[in-house]
Amino acid sequence: MMNTPVTKTKATNTRVLTGITTSGTPHLGNYVGAIRPAIEASQSHDVDAFFFLADYHALIKCEDPDRIARSRLEIAATWLAGGLDANRVTFYRQSDVPEIPELSWMLTCVTGKGLMNRAHAYKASVDQNLAKGVEEDDGINMGLFSYPILMAADILMFNAHKVPVGRDQTQHLEMARDIAQRFNHLFGRGHDFFVLPEAVIAEDVATLPGLDGRKMSKSYNNTVPLFEGGAKALKSAVAKIVTDSRGPGEPKDADASHLYLIYKAFAKPAEAAAFREELIGGMGWGDAKQRLCARIEEEIGPLRDHYADLMAHPDRIEDILQEGARKARAIATPFMKELRQAVGLRNLSTGMQAKSGQSGKAAGKAARYVSFRDETGQFRFRLMSAEGIELFCSIPFADPKQAGVTMKSLQTKLADDVVVLTGEAAFEIAMNGQKVADGVASESSAARDKVIESLRVAMQPAD
Ligand code: TRP
Repeated sequence: MMNTPVTKTKATNTRVLTGITTSGTPHLGNYVGAIRPAIEASQSHDVDAFFFLADYHALIKCEDPDRIARSRLEIAATWLAGGLDANRVTFYRQSDVPEIPELSWMLTCVTGKGLMNRAHAYKASVDQNLAKGVEEDDGINMGLFSYPILMAADILMFNAHKVPVGRDQTQHLEMARDIAQRFNHLFGRGHDFFVLPEAVIAEDVATLPGLDGRKMSKSYNNTVPLFEGGAKALKSAVAKIVTDSRGPGEPKDADASHLYLIYKAFAKPAEAAAFREELIGGMGWGDAKQRLCARIEEEIGPLRDHYADLMAHPDRIEDILQEGARKARAIATPFMKELRQAVGLRNLSTGMQAKSGQSGKAAGKAARYVSFRDETGQFRFRLMSAEGIELFCSIPFADPKQAGVTMKSLQTKLADDVVVLTGEAAFEIAMNGQKVADGVASESSAARDKVIESLRVAMQPAD
């Protein structure tokens, strides 16, 4: 295991990446909804999979060190027992890759606070506080607030194309894309550092009901354990799954039964159909629970033995994760070097020369004036942003020299000296009280403000 070479990543392979927060014990819902499908997907030959333990994320909501430590071990053992092949997949702990928090900081510096204000997880906590009548940020730490940035760093660090997640994570993926785009735009100079990742929300993967019929989730305290507690714990949890009061012999509404839904997630279609028929035919709930247990046991029993073996040898898991960290860092370390260079954190002896040639906001691609003759033969000029977007267009001049003089003198001004707001969403450029250009039309005052913001950048002296 320790000597496995880094698997060469073919450019054509799809990079699939997902993280699991290490704050709990895996349950049956995690297995069916995330672990099993992810392991299956990782076996495809055109996929390079990155699975990691999101243990920095766990610190956000859990201040119990023993629970964090235990959960990391349990989750790692679960994935390995579930059939994850650590030779194929890059399997690592987030906290073993220091480039991730480093990238997270770089991304923090290009992320608008307003974007984070809109994050559902943060807003939900605020709403709960307001409902309780306490101060709106009560008990909310900065980790929770900037959680989506750390998640973006997890994903962008490895340029993942696809990120399998639950539906509740869709917004985080949108934010990761926004942040990636912003960074590419600011520092990319025609080269995109980051791939824009896509969320993969599995439609065909079952969401298991928990003991009370709501979605199985740690936060509802209604879970059936996967491996922990052995077959006994599985049995006693299944015994607690709610059913209706119909007795043996009475026909059951199979499709509405939680037992059937869980059974279906483990059985082949024909087996599931037979189970359904028997429920409709009057099978008692007690029998149905026994059958369900036996069916789950058939699949996870052998995995549980493997799990128990791994749990008894944490050093083996540690070795596997260390090797995973090595593979992950073989990608992250050189990439981070490139990113440090891009933002200006450079070796001083080479950094200054790099300035004009390398990427960066102010360097290289700059805003520019473009002169042209309009359809009536008059002389005009435009100011284009570094990104090639028109910011304003001059009034027509009959004399090209006059156009040139006006342009030259605008080049010595700052945007705020010459912008005049006109009406709701428009602006003009004026010097000495004389209009010299029209700002590009905007749909709203907010859009106009953005144009003016770009104009400020464009009219900034080059140094
Ligand atoms: N936020 C994810 C969850 O709670 C876990 C996670 C952290 C993650 N970083 C990630 C998932 C990166 C996918 C990609 O489920």
